[in-house]
Amino acid sequence: MAVKDFIDTNDFTKEEILDIIELSRSMKTMIKEGGRYPQILKNKNLGMIFQQVSTRTRIAFETAMQDLGGHALFFGPGTIQLGGHESIEDSGHVMGSVLDIMMARVNRHQDVVNLAKYSAVPVINGMSEYNHPTQEIGDLLTIIENIPEGKKLEDCKVAFIGDATQVCVSLMFICSKMGMDFVHFGPKGHQVSDGGLQVDTNIDLVAIAEENCKVSGGSVTVTDDIEAIKGADFIYTDVWYGLYDDEEEGPSYMDVFYPKYQVTMEMMNFAGPDSKFMHCLPATRGEEVTDEVMDSDRSLCWDEAENRKHSIRGLLAYFCPRGADDPVVASQAQDRLNAVLTKLGYPTM
Ligand code: CP
Repeated sequence: MAVKDFIDTNDFTKEEILDIIELSRSMKTMIKEGGRYPQILKNKNLGMIFQQVSTRTRIAFETAMQDLGGHALFFGPGTIQLGGHESIEDSGHVMGSVLDIMMARVNRHQDVVNLAKYSAVPVINGMSEYNHPTQEIGDLLTIIENIPEGKKLEDCKVAFIGDATQVCVSLMFICSKMGMDFVHFGPKGHQVSDGGLQVDTNIDLVAIAEENCKVSGGSVTVTDDIEAIKGADFIYTDVWYGLYDDEEEGPSYMDVFYPKYQVTMEMMNFAGPDSKFMHCLPATRGEEVTDEVMDSDRSLCWDEAENRKHSIRGLLAYFCPRGADDPVVASQAQDRLNAVLTKLGYPTM
């Protein structure tokens, strides 16, 4: 493993990503069906920095760490000095010296990049305005578990409907990396080719995905023509407003997206009779998706939410540094400790 941090899935090969998926799947089965919890992160500490609110990501990281024998510390919005009085660089130095691994959900992508740069320990991107790579891994796990009979992963078509959120960008990245066909069906001005929510709109997101496709054999289509979603195995959507500070209020978004881009059962059937529905959640029912679709047996959104935890276990196991293991140093240090403990009247270890 050459790359220390998990900031962007484009930093990894298809094979490396599939290793993380296999790690996640094997631990999912071992724990969920076998009832055995591999204690591979015993005595490890995860620091969780959240500059934005979270339900799934926080719960998944905290419980995944506990499942593997480790411990998680939560630093909510406004609770630590990151980017305030203390620079991100200094925070990275300090936190990296006392924690074993970190995750950060940040206001600006550059913050998580800088945190990783100045931290001695791995940093996992828990979502920025640019991308949401831990969601990508959970979604890939869900897609792999639901590949239609007779198809391979590379045969699958995924259509994202609506606003070019960071989840849309991430879905495009992972689908193109894996060799799938990806479609963004959205209105002009809100298409992934317009730059998504990212602050640095000079980055050509579609060009990155097209580079992936050259290696993987996948494809990327961006359009406002619904014909492009025909044959999609997976229909994915996200909220019509970003979670970031330039969000607009609902009505203007309804004017842009409703009703053409609302995922209805009619749209699901237009894609194909067996198409499955996906959503990163939280959803705004009645806006980007109807209750009928969310609650149907074609909806995978609850599996996706559960798979956040299974896949985050895989990510933590993959990226957490292995512990020190020098028996000579340990034995000498134990002798020194016992000498001090005896002097202070404690039992020896
Ligand atoms: N999908 C997702 O990241 O959910 P949270 O914002 O609740 O973590």
